[in-house]
Amino acid sequence: MNTALQKSLTYKKYVIDDNLQYFKPHSTKIEKTFADEICSSLSGDSKHIHPKFFYDKKGSALFDKICILPEYYPTRTEIKILKNLKSELSEYLDGSFRLVELGSGSSMKTRLILDIFSKIQNKIEYFPIDISEILTESSELLQKDYPNLHITGIIDTYEGGLEFIEKYDDKKNLIIFLGSSFGNFIPNEGKNFLQKINSTMKKEDLFLIGLDLVKDKKILENAYDDSQGITANFNLNVLSRINDELDADFDLNNFEHCAKYNEKDQRVEMYLKSLVNQSVIISKANISLKLKQGELIHTEHSHKYKISQIKDLMEKTGFEIKQNWLDVNKHYALILVSKK
Ligand code: TRP
Repeated sequence: MNTALQKSLTYKKYVIDDNLQYFKPHSTKIEKTFADEICSSLSGDSKHIHPKFFYDKKGSALFDKICILPEYYPTRTEIKILKNLKSELSEYLDGSFRLVELGSGSSMKTRLILDIFSKIQNKIEYFPIDISEILTESSELLQKDYPNLHITGIIDTYEGGLEFIEKYDDKKNLIIFLGSSFGNFIPNEGKNFLQKINSTMKKEDLFLIGLDLVKDKKILENAYDDSQGITANFNLNVLSRINDELDADFDLNNFEHCAKYNEKDQRVEMYLKSLVNQSVIISKANISLKLKQGELIHTEHSHKYKISQIKDLMEKTGFEIKQNWLDVNKHYALILVSKK
């Protein structure tokens, strides 16, 4: 059997209507459970919680609030750049491109790109890739506003989804990865991820990525530690989630949100700091966690880049920069690349 056929057989297809279908892998992969991951990431010396666990229902709602905070400039800056690049981006597109988004497109940003497609295509094809079933909700919302939109959602990892599309057909893709989510990878992971994207791309495909730029330390730290405490609640919410889902007894009053800009590594580092000596039982993960006063649990890194470093990174991972767009303050960049 050829690999393309094998690959398509490992996904199950769900047809909702003429304009909406999903593909989801048969659950053959052995994935670690939430309990297993928490057990191993909180047992060792450098304690951490993977940021993917932030986004339960409450966490996602808090993140939406973060995006409109006065201090959190990335979202609004990226939107501003997208609004300005309209005609410039469409010069790279034609009627045979489709939009592939890494992440589920519930946001205004997806709509701005879809508006660009609407100007040059009567029928738009959109392939969102997201590990979460939330994809189905956001797709239905988009369908209401874009009657000429054909959505094929892929409920899988970004890498899995891109491989799926590579085998699916030969259509040209504009792949978008917005929100500076790339900054959450540590450098090595990030490099591997870009190489992986590159390896699934055809020569004619395009990739648009949003990256946050190095700037004044105060602006950065405020963006990740706002005056209303929404970001603090967002970070602390992961402990409530562990309490609820893994039967744990974290007392949230004994922890503090902590965001520090590490100038050397060019990243905002997010932690949950233990305010007292304490022990916490996480029943379903089978651990009794001991924390000293001042001890940190790491939750997320958000890397910031210089344009010269972005050029270097793209070059090293097999891309050629087509164009980059910055806001007037040079706080944020959208980079359009193709395969070298
Ligand atoms: N991708 C977002 C960023 O790096 C995630 C984020 C924003 C975040 N604020 C946060 C993660 C606070 C943890 C805590 O900008």
